[in-house]
Amino acid sequence: DAALAVPEWPDIEQWWPRLDAASEKYTRGVVGIATGSAMYPGAAVLSVGGALAGPAGMVRYAGGAATQVLRHHPSVIATQRVAEAGRVQAWVCGSGLGTDEAAATELRTVLATSLPAVLDADALTLLVDGSMADQLRGRDAPIVVTPHDREFARLAGGEPGDDRVGAALRLASWMNAVVLLKGDRTVVATPAGRAWANPTGTPALATGGTGDVLAGLLGSLLAARVAPERAAVAAAYLHGLAGRAAARSGPVTAPDVAAALREVVPASF
Ligand code: APR
Ligand code: MG
Repeated sequence: DAALAVPEWPDIEQWWPRLDAASEKYTRGVVGIATGSAMYPGAAVLSVGGALAGPAGMVRYAGGAATQVLRHHPSVIATQRVAEAGRVQAWVCGSGLGTDEAAATELRTVLATSLPAVLDADALTLLVDGSMADQLRGRDAPIVVTPHDREFARLAGGEPGDDRVGAALRLASWMNAVVLLKGDRTVVATPAGRAWANPTGTPALATGGTGDVLAGLLGSLLAARVAPERAAVAAAYLHGLAGRAAARSGPVTAPDVAAALREVVPASF
């Protein structure tokens, strides 16, 4: 495919946000994480863990797992609802959120902002079931959707099939969103017709919750004002490196991937 590119480490390291003497936590970016619930607190803890490995200066959590998030990540500012979260520069919404009316309200609140957003897991189900996918086409601020194959099938009305790049490009165009189609070679596709295949994937990532870590990191990059396609390409790339690093010391769990991300991201100064 002529449109396909393969990212390399220097591509990412070169533009990675750097700290300097004037850096300040708010200007570095504040990422809002609307994931998890009382039923699925782990999704919240993991996506916040991914976000804390990125370049944003602050992480705010909004949802039903605040107690667990704060126990694992005391630097986070937590609240119950997206509407109460205060100022953020990008949102991550979805995994473990549930698909009830309260969850739909949180997603609608995120979509009603003019901020970049990552939509994953339950947010993708809600988009389809609530016929909200249409709204994305008129939205100015960028959206990145991060489906695995079954989530992709719900959004697109069919499995990606053998031409994963073509499938991701068509969905990106239809949704007017950057599509990060997860798999052993994760594909990133833009509405403008560009696509990348991630070279760093590892089956060590095939364990529950690693997708939540990826979404959090991606949100941190958006909050730091990195362009959405760049953020998606870099998040997939570094997530793969983190999976490989974590696998060096035994069987990998999702918290190991979040911890390893902190070692593999480019130096921040
Ligand atoms: N090779 C490389 N990367 C892989 C492989 C593989 N064989 N298998 C999975 N991955 C990567 C994907 O690219 C993605 O980044 O692992 C991550 C898995 O993310 P998800 O599919 O979103 O899985 P996750 O949400 O972490 O956990 C499973 O999803 O279906 C729901 O309810 C289910 O809680 C469960 C959750
Ligand atoms: Mg997932």
